[in-house]
Amino acid sequence: MITKNINFKNFVIKIKKFQISKKLRLLLNQNNRILSTLRPEYKYSYNNRIISKFKKSSSFTLIGMGGSILGAQAIYDFLKYKIKKNFLFINNIDSNLIISHKKNNVNLIISKSGNTLETIVNANIFIKKKDKNIFITEHTNNYLLNLGKKIKAEIIEHRNYIGGRYSVLSEVGMLPAELMGLNEKKFKQFNNLIKNKKFLNSLVSNVESILYFIKKDKFTSIILNYDERSDNLFKWYQQLVAESLGKKSKGVLPIISSMPKDNHSLMQLYLDGPKKSFYTFFHIFNKQSIKIKSKELFSKSKYLISKDLNKILYSQKIATENVFKRKKIPFRSFEIFNRDEKTLGELFTFFILETILLGRALEVNPFDQPSVELIKKETRRILIKN
Ligand code: PA5
Repeated sequence: MITKNINFKNFVIKIKKFQISKKLRLLLNQNNRILSTLRPEYKYSYNNRIISKFKKSSSFTLIGMGGSILGAQAIYDFLKYKIKKNFLFINNIDSNLIISHKKNNVNLIISKSGNTLETIVNANIFIKKKDKNIFITEHTNNYLLNLGKKIKAEIIEHRNYIGGRYSVLSEVGMLPAELMGLNEKKFKQFNNLIKNKKFLNSLVSNVESILYFIKKDKFTSIILNYDERSDNLFKWYQQLVAESLGKKSKGVLPIISSMPKDNHSLMQLYLDGPKKSFYTFFHIFNKQSIKIKSKELFSKSKYLISKDLNKILYSQKIATENVFKRKKIPFRSFEIFNRDEKTLGELFTFFILETILLGRALEVNPFDQPSVELIKKETRRILIKN
């Protein structure tokens, strides 16, 4: 157990080659401004007046791309069982779109740069002047800031030092969380975690192992996710890892597998295909899972009688791990005991620290995304010409 909520089993390989402990110590002593957003004492650029003003609404549309929206979406899906509000997430361009405009809806438009093409396009399609609108964007002369001012939207500053994919515990993820009725304070577990030796040791040995795999040319990281409600958590993680580390011909390619569904499509390849990947098992214990009723079963399947769905899922996870062990396929495992803000905050913190440490060890800048900018410029050039 690395916390009361998370049982983490690391890859079996034990390596101490990359000086990750030292890098972690340096990082934690650096007063890193991005890490400051993970702390409970971080001061948001919005205040309670904004929360009370919009909290009564029951319908929200969140428009953004990448790091500006994935964190809020991960939170919404993971904690949906306790959220009474209805959130619609718009994070792509859909040319088949049919819009139905809801009354008393609040639009939340999030973009650090304020100039992201997809966000601008969707904002123009979805928002109406009469709507209630909140914009979170940098205080620069950008498109969305100017639009927000023009339509008299509520404007909240996106601090310029917080990159999208590291912004989930800043205003970018926490304002939507508060509007969902969640308690932002409970997500802020950083101060507890950095005092927790088990957490820090697991983080370090985990990063050491991943670096070992990368050195051995295994750079595909496959997440075997046994919890559908965590799919967006892993979409968030996928973006964090891919965009932060994919530089200078280095990086990790995170792939999300839905389990046990993918037993029937990809698993054969994972087991007997090229040995180029390492794996992450992820399971959440659900105490209220429904049971199989005996009368609906055929006599041959007696072993399923009274088993709940969670038990079946967990058995499949353990069975798959056993086969992986036999086949010497490297894996780590997260088992989650409580589906709440605290656990999610712990997972966000673990993955953010893991990514920054990997970036430092691989000698790439985990906070930029230079080549994505090339596509933005090229698209603009094509649209201007035609
Ligand atoms: O993590 C990142 O920096 C990116 O994924 C951005 O969040 C994404 O490109 C959207 O950018 P912006 O917030 O400027 O609209």
